[in-house]
Amino acid sequence: MDHFLYRDGQLMAEDVPLREIAEAVGTPAYVYSTATLLRHYRLFDEALAWGPHLVCFAVKSLSNVAILTLLGREGAGMDVVSAGEYLRAKAAGVPGERIVFSGVGKTREEMRIVLEGGVRQVNLESEPEMAALSEVAVSMGVEVPVTVRVNPDVDAKTHAKIATGKSENKFGVPISRAVEVYAEAAALPGLRVVGIDVHIGSQLTDLAPFEAVYAKVADLTGVLRAEGHAIERLDLGGGLGIPYTRSNEVPPLPRDYGALIERTVGHLGCEVEIEPGRLISGNAGVLLSRVIYVKTGEDRDFLILDGAMNDLIRPAMYDAWHDIVPVAEPVAGAPTRAFDIVGPVCETGDTFARGREMPEVGEGDLVAFRSAGAYGAVMASEYNSRPLVPEVLVDGDHFAVIRRRPTIDEMIARDSLPPWL
Ligand code: LLP
Repeated sequence: MDHFLYRDGQLMAEDVPLREIAEAVGTPAYVYSTATLLRHYRLFDEALAWGPHLVCFAVKSLSNVAILTLLGREGAGMDVVSAGEYLRAKAAGVPGERIVFSGVGKTREEMRIVLEGGVRQVNLESEPEMAALSEVAVSMGVEVPVTVRVNPDVDAKTHAKIATGKSENKFGVPISRAVEVYAEAAALPGLRVVGIDVHIGSQLTDLAPFEAVYAKVADLTGVLRAEGHAIERLDLGGGLGIPYTRSNEVPPLPRDYGALIERTVGHLGCEVEIEPGRLISGNAGVLLSRVIYVKTGEDRDFLILDGAMNDLIRPAMYDAWHDIVPVAEPVAGAPTRAFDIVGPVCETGDTFARGREMPEVGEGDLVAFRSAGAYGAVMASEYNSRPLVPEVLVDGDHFAVIRRRPTIDEMIARDSLPPWL
């Protein structure tokens, strides 16, 4: 459920007509709903209320400091994968004790930044990384809580580009080697083993892979405890999927996911951490865009929008589906027409949808890409020298720009000439 609904013939973000935002801010623009973000965060928090837990929002899905502030004040922890994300979480006022540092290639410099500012735990992904963190921690005279991310070799049954839990993926250490790797970690100075970490992929629409993996984590907890490790935390990753179409998809609910966690690892007496991104932010955002032209081709019609692949890369990158709806509510039963919906960027990959049935829309009309809150703005670029798309946050009947659109002069001013030109 989200808070983008038609009212009085207009698509609203909570109590604000999207048309008003488009007029004030211009298009394209991302628009987020406070109520939806909070609702989704709370669903996870409640789903884990049976035991000690921390819901760490995956900052990579939507990293605007205003959003992190909102969730941080609600009590959320943060899952970060770079110094940049870590410093964003800190800028949002989230204390280090609530920030988990994940990622397959953390640099020593990033480790230093995070250890200096304080961190709940570092999720280690390889032996060389373990050695590096030990070195950095010792040089700074600190001891850092760590988990090891194990790769359980389970098929998450999602898009290949976002599956992470198979042995051929670059992530984690093979679960078959866990005992050996944990012994190494425990022997390294400056590291304190506190738990196990796992994350198998994103946009999972079936609970079965989670169940298989968490059962493996439960077994491993027993094995590692028998080896003398103090396994007191389980970081179970993110990945719960969302409906991208309004009609037929019904992915599992956070409540069922929470019950599954209780069933599989609840008896171990561990604090549970999860790292959801998409389920919190995905349906809490839309990309607002305007039709520049309707172009009639030889065998198809094109809807040419002012939003492009640089603003929302998911369709080009993963063949992802986003519902694209007119901001002015279509009359019930009005005829539709098939369009190829494209952006102005100069490559054919800049196609959002092919042959998509749309109610009649014309030049100057506004459309909204649904479910664009996660992996939308954060993956945007300035390709074709298009200014980075701005972001707006709605709360009830008011809204504010939380990242403004840069001017083209600002973009040009970042470049500099070498002395010989
Ligand atoms: N934790 C770790 C270690 C991750 O790698 C990820 C996502 C998450 C948590 C959050 O997963 P979520 O709950 O959002 O599924 N750009 C792609 C998605 C990439 C996901 C990468 N890792 C997309 O647009 O579909």
